[in-house]
Amino acid sequence: MSTADKLDRLRTMREEARQGGGAKRVEGQHARGKLSARERLELLLDEESFTEIDAFVTHRATDFGLDDERYLGDGVITGFGRIDGRLVFVYSQDFTVFGGSLSEAHAEKICKVMDLAIENGAPIIGLSDSGGARIQEGVVSLGGYADIFLRNTLASGVVPQISLVMGPCAGGAVYSPAITDLVVMVEGTSYMFVTGPNVVKTVTHEEIDFEGLGGATVHNERSGVAHFLAAGEPHALELARTLIGYLPQNNVDLTPRRDDWSPPSVAAEALDALVPDSAKQSYDMHTAIDGIVDADSFTEVHEHYARNIVCGFARVEGRSIGIVAQQPEVLAGVLDIDASDKAARFVRTCDCFNIPIVTLVDVPGFLPGVDQEHRGIIRHGAKLLYAYCEATVPKVTVITRKAYGGAYDVMSSKHVRGDMNFAWPTAEIAVMGVEGAVNIIFRDRIAAAEDADAERARLVAEYEERFANPYIAAARGYVDEVILPSETRARIAGALDMLQNKRQSVPPKKHGNIPL
Ligand code: HXC
Repeated sequence: MSTADKLDRLRTMREEARQGGGAKRVEGQHARGKLSARERLELLLDEESFTEIDAFVTHRATDFGLDDERYLGDGVITGFGRIDGRLVFVYSQDFTVFGGSLSEAHAEKICKVMDLAIENGAPIIGLSDSGGARIQEGVVSLGGYADIFLRNTLASGVVPQISLVMGPCAGGAVYSPAITDLVVMVEGTSYMFVTGPNVVKTVTHEEIDFEGLGGATVHNERSGVAHFLAAGEPHALELARTLIGYLPQNNVDLTPRRDDWSPPSVAAEALDALVPDSAKQSYDMHTAIDGIVDADSFTEVHEHYARNIVCGFARVEGRSIGIVAQQPEVLAGVLDIDASDKAARFVRTCDCFNIPIVTLVDVPGFLPGVDQEHRGIIRHGAKLLYAYCEATVPKVTVITRKAYGGAYDVMSSKHVRGDMNFAWPTAEIAVMGVEGAVNIIFRDRIAAAEDADAERARLVAEYEERFANPYIAAARGYVDEVILPSETRARIAGALDMLQNKRQSVPPKKHGNIPL
């Protein structure tokens, strides 16, 4: 064979690899409202930045006629590229080849890029679109999954891992995204479940379709399995690019700082009028967030799940931060099981990737109730407490209004190593709400009074005047400074600046034992 023929052979093989399962199946993919595995990578990565590896890998199976059916690449495209100039490793499952199902060789390709990501300290982004284990390969495929799960776990806290679920993700396959840091699902075309509708019907006699069982809405609103609900594939891929922009390359890298930031979209002065006169009235904590962070820099995580707490990435003067904030507009911002789980996970995500945590507190306490107690609010609330206690990244706290009971301690208080703790003049730091406190400690006095209501009102006013303010905490140094709401962004920016070289450690250990 001449040299020219040899070069042509390579060109032909490359072209064959690019075809995946063929034009007809790519059409089918488009007809399902989905992009092809390669089109996705084009949108995800900087132009012309993708380098593919293992394009000529094929499966080694021979059973069930597989020896006659081989596709170069074996159903997954792997390699590395850039997002805003920064290195990322990627894999993108190709549904046009055996339904993107995972064979031994397919798994080996994914493991190879995961190993490269860990060794080279760069994020890994996985695009799932797969019918699960390659049925013809049996246990070898299961082994391949386990090899991936192991790497997901070893990479956890070392390099950021983002999962984009772009199609089916079923059976044990779901546990790879589940171990990663952030999961994006696409509305209408992606689903995740451990067992599908048919098995569910057989076992529990429940009738449900794919979307209802494990669609993007279900996992964003109800289960909390997914962090982001994308309106379509381009949105999902754009989200991944945005998320990478907040994150460091790895756990010993600093987060990227942007020079091109803009002042907040809400004027500082607007925050002075944010908290209503009555403690019973709510307000939207998003306004506070918008008055603090750089304009258009906030990306909410778990936006549709446990909406009584708001978590998200943002920037202050170009620096990445994680925000955890009660939302008085939903369940009065109470801490329940789901809110505790959501915030605990987010605090740990920030902590392992050197992202300072800004906590905005307006919490009436933990949610009372038989259901919450029986489902383990103690265990779940403990996760959030544990997460804040162990976090060593800069922690800046602003109490905007209520900080009652155990929830005061939990929410990045001074006692759990909050670095700078501010309070607005509207802050009420107490064991419980004023009315509740008065009803307990003055029960006899109210009962004995001629006019019980008048006596209660007088005692409430007296208690409020004495205790429902930030000055007792400030006198003890539990609050570093009482600030005007309009000063909040400036104080947070100053604190982040002061804390940028913070070094704090926990006692050496194999690992802590967070209550799960
Ligand atoms: C081999 C598969 C496959 C699989 C799909 N295909 N899933 N090939 N192994 N797991 C192939 C189909 O044969 C078909 O090939 C092509 O992919 C497209 O599939 P369709 O069925 O035509 O597509 P669609 O109608 O969109 O349905 C998609 C689907 C369905 C819902 C994912 O294919 C399906 O139910 N697949 C099986 C899912 C499953 O049971 N997987 C095992 C789960 S257990 P042609 O040649 O026609 O294009 C598991 C355990 C993991 O994964 C454990 C880890 C620990």
